[in-house]
Amino acid sequence: MRRAPQPVWDAFVRLFHWALVASIAVAAVTGFVLGPGFIPVHVVAASLAVALVLARIVWGFAGGGYARFAGFVTGPVRLMRYARDVLGGREARHVGHNPLGAAMVLALMAAVLAAGLTGWAFLGAGAKLGPFAFILAHTDSPALAEMHEAVAFTILALVALHLGGVIFTSRREGENLVRAMVTGKKEVGPQDIVPPEREARPGAALGVGLALALVLALAVAAPVLLPVPGAPVAEIDPTARAECTDCHMFYHPSLLPSDNWEQIMATLDNHFGEDASLDAETTAEITAWLSAHAAESADTRASKVFRLDPAKGVTRISDTPFWKARHGWIDPAAFRSPRVGSRDNCAACHADAETGWFNPFFAEVEE
Ligand code: HEC
Ligand code: HEC
Repeated sequence: MRRAPQPVWDAFVRLFHWALVASIAVAAVTGFVLGPGFIPVHVVAASLAVALVLARIVWGFAGGGYARFAGFVTGPVRLMRYARDVLGGREARHVGHNPLGAAMVLALMAAVLAAGLTGWAFLGAGAKLGPFAFILAHTDSPALAEMHEAVAFTILALVALHLGGVIFTSRREGENLVRAMVTGKKEVGPQDIVPPEREARPGAALGVGLALALVLALAVAAPVLLPVPGAPVAEIDPTARAECTDCHMFYHPSLLPSDNWEQIMATLDNHFGEDASLDAETTAEITAWLSAHAAESADTRASKVFRLDPAKGVTRISDTPFWKARHGWIDPAAFRSPRVGSRDNCAACHADAETGWFNPFFAEVEE
């Protein structure tokens, strides 16, 4: 039986496929292997994967016969029947995606979308980036991190299954499916099942795709254009900055609750063994500003975890249980290094310390 090679995978499907492979590979390596410093690369690569899947979905309704969902997506009954036929070694040959391959396409696309959703939700809750910053609180971020990780492992498992399926089918049909995804051509015999022919509509696909891209770009930019609820105050009071940075870095007001600030400001004459006292007017002005922007007004993790309690001997942020738990693993010598100097010099390791965010992605210890 002669089989003539025919174009099956169009240029968009092939480009989509290999670009998705590359972006998932980069997202996996940056997410699972490399440190928090690679999070920006991870976010870009993973968002590219999501954009590719969205574009593929549009093409699934507007592409030609082999690209259309209608040409390869099957219901569970036909899927089970096909799976049974494969086990019995008597399945029909599908030139496009066979029913199991089609189920894998859908599962992989759904998993990539779920990873994008949980990833952006995590960024929104934890780092107040993106559209989810408006609807999620920092307290949601641990649960979201776990969900995101579970979805990421699911993608790895699906990729492994997909590779298994490709190798299995390539051997069974004596045709290299990886090469077919490069050249776009597959052999078509008279017995083979081919999807009904359909006219591709690239113009319509491009229009819908661009509209979708615009909506998503606006959603991602929203936190820049609109104020995020719970974001610490951006402008630092000039008097507070002038008076409170002579001896140490600027401690953002959102780091401590207002009663802690009132306590600190009421005892400036004996401030950690130093006399930092100011005239009554300046003291009142700074106290009012610190209290107005204290932890109660912010939605960062740092604003929720620190509280000084002199009765229990906790007079510094670095004495609080959360601080000790998160920094206990750091070699004490790292705090004594000339660049850092002390545990209280948060800004030496936290590039965003002045903003009050203390985003873990920006925390670094010098080796
Ligand atoms: C004369 C020097 C001096 C001035 C001025 C000063 N401080 Fe301090 N401050 C210290 C010292 C010393 C410590 C102990 C920690 C350290 O060594 O950095 C400290 C610690 C702190 C801490 C605790 C940091 C931690 O790790 O928990 C806060 C909060 C603080 N200062 C707030 C202020 C504020 C608000 C002002 C302005 C009104 C101010 N300081 C002005 C000397 C000063
Ligand atoms: C020697 C460097 C260093 C210094 C100094 C330091 N930190 Fe950190 N901090 C880190 C690192 C690294 C992490 C990330 C730890 C992790 O994720 O396990 C971290 C984590 C944190 C976190 C948790 C972030 C999150 O959401 O998971 C907070 C909050 C924090 N630091 C606040 C502070 C404050 C406040 C100070 C100053 C009083 C400070 N740190 C001083 C290195 C430092």
